[in-house]
Amino acid sequence: MSTVKVEVLLDSDWAAGSLVDDVRRGLGSHPLRLPPKWLYDDEGSRLFDEITRLPEYYPTEAERTILHQHAAAVVEASGATTVVELGSGTSDKTRTLLDAFAAAGRLRRFVPVDVSEQTLREAATMLGERYPGLTVEAIVGDFTLHLSHLPPNEPGHHRVVAFLGGTIGNLYVEERAAFLGALADSLEPGDCLLLGTDLVKPVDRLVAAYHDPGGVTDRFVRNSLVVLNRELGADFDPGAFSYVPFWDAHMERMDLRLRSESPQHVRVPGAGLEVDLAVGDEIHVEISTKFRPAGVRSELAAAGFETLELFTDPAGDFGVTLARLA
Ligand code: SAH
Ligand code: TRP
Repeated sequence: MSTVKVEVLLDSDWAAGSLVDDVRRGLGSHPLRLPPKWLYDDEGSRLFDEITRLPEYYPTEAERTILHQHAAAVVEASGATTVVELGSGTSDKTRTLLDAFAAAGRLRRFVPVDVSEQTLREAATMLGERYPGLTVEAIVGDFTLHLSHLPPNEPGHHRVVAFLGGTIGNLYVEERAAFLGALADSLEPGDCLLLGTDLVKPVDRLVAAYHDPGGVTDRFVRNSLVVLNRELGADFDPGAFSYVPFWDAHMERMDLRLRSESPQHVRVPGAGLEVDLAVGDEIHVEISTKFRPAGVRSELAAAGFETLELFTDPAGDFGVTLARLA
């Protein structure tokens, strides 16, 4: 028998309050910005899942290939018995990792953490059924705020924290440093981090991955406005914006924005805010940073993590780094 528990740190009041704060901060000053965690309501999570199956969106399959090939090495080198997963979503690729821990008789606990409650609950239930004897301690929470709530090590055991999908690249550089520092503070020496990072590559493939011809990514990014309309009574007309993804060569990141196509006066009563947008004004919705191996290593080192291995797929598209807290 497995045990499945779900701890909810983001109740609806908290989520509403946090959304109001984020929107006041993000839409109350220039450049206009929306924090990406609000992309993942039920519809956003569904659209993201669709993105991962687009032929142009190479990261998911590249990371799956890496996990498949190196999962046993991760089990061995980490020596962990608890797998924590941040921004776990459907935990689809993670099953490859969990399979390897289970095959080695080393899978005791799985702790998925995500803001998207419905997706998390479904994943937790499914994994409990798949791995008899596993304890699933799911946390509905925010990985930028709630790392101190991770369950501690069982005496004599270690944890490995998986942070996959290139999600770390959605944080700005100073947010990444804060995140890695907080993660180091919440772990014990000897615990490991398994970090997925998309790698710098020719611009045409990067742009294609964030601008599919069927418009799934466009709908995903635009859905952020639908969330504001629903949660804060805003009156954004998503059709009055165009989706603008571009490669920022200096910062080495995809920059995903919505551009106003007409003069607009938008009310956001739930946040006590009114926003005027001229033609061409942009809302910064998300960045997706692409990394170089040396950069990953040094950002990790700055937070106290020693890189043990950087695994890549045969094409060199994506990197998965195994690092240990010194
Ligand atoms: N790990 C999966 C999903 C990546 S999409 C994969 O590799 O395919 C990013 C996931 O992180 C979504 O499920 C989203 O709900 C979650 N997420 C985004 N911001 C978050 C935050 N601040 N705290 C917790 N989860 C977050
Ligand atoms: N972590 C994913 C990435 O950076 C999230 C993502 C995929 C995304 N496609 C997107 C975010 C499109 C915004 C828009 O690749």
